[in-house]
Amino acid sequence: MSTFVPGRHVRTFTTRAGQEAVIRYPRWEDLDELLALSNRLSQEDTFTVSSGEVISREQQAGYLAEAIKGMELQDYVYLCCFVDGKFAGGCGIQRNLSGMSRKRHMGIFSIALSPAARGQGIGYELARTTIEAARQTLPGLRLLFLEVYEKNIAGINLYKKLGFMEVGRVPQAVLYQGDYIDDIEMTLPLD
Ligand SMILES: CC(C)(COP(=O)(O)OP(=O)(O)OC[C@H]1O[C@@H](n2cnc3c(N)ncnc32)[C@H](O)[C@@H]1OP(=O)(O)O)[C@@H](O)C(=O)NCCC(=O)NCCS
Repeated sequence: MSTFVPGRHVRTFTTRAGQEAVIRYPRWEDLDELLALSNRLSQEDTFTVSSGEVISREQQAGYLAEAIKGMELQDYVYLCCFVDGKFAGGCGIQRNLSGMSRKRHMGIFSIALSPAARGQGIGYELARTTIEAARQTLPGLRLLFLEVYEKNIAGINLYKKLGFMEVGRVPQAVLYQGDYIDDIEMTLPLD
């Protein structure tokens, strides 16, 4: 049975800057803040998939609908972090459904914060809370997997701190700000 409740609070913590942070599940009313972050990251041309494309409200509504459906089916966990009431970013773990039943035990990890929220311990707290939520709500999950661009030093360090290890590298897989750079693959077994 699904344990997903829109907007449910998971935990609070204090950031390094002394602000109160709340980690909770998303709800429909978050749509515009999710959209603003998606477009902010795309504009920034940072280490996420988008590089300048504009995401429409309709597209974002589709992503949120898919996320909610995935959580109801116990195939996805997505948690949001709000700092002093402002949306700071989100973290997701999506069951790998590409291999029918062969890869259902694998969760694909992703995280992104707004620029102002970075470097204050929020990514680490949000990531470890999402991993714990995935353990509890995605039955049969055994392994987390992610891809990170070789130039994303903050991301690579965060993942190592969480226990991920590099297991592979695809040379020149990513066109990043005019250069072809490597995509690093990392995994974290869940015992
Ligand atoms: C990557 C990201 C999620 C990290 O979150 P964060 O809140 O900034 O990271 P934290 O402050 O929690 O730091 C956790 C660890 O990450 C590493 N880290 C964070 N910022 C770093 C930086 N500027 N340089 C080097 N390492 C850094 C450190 O190991 C840090 O641990 P420490 O504080 O004990 O040294 C965030 O920077 C971000 O959203 N970046 C843009 C989007 C992105 O790259 N997403 C990931 C795509 S794979």
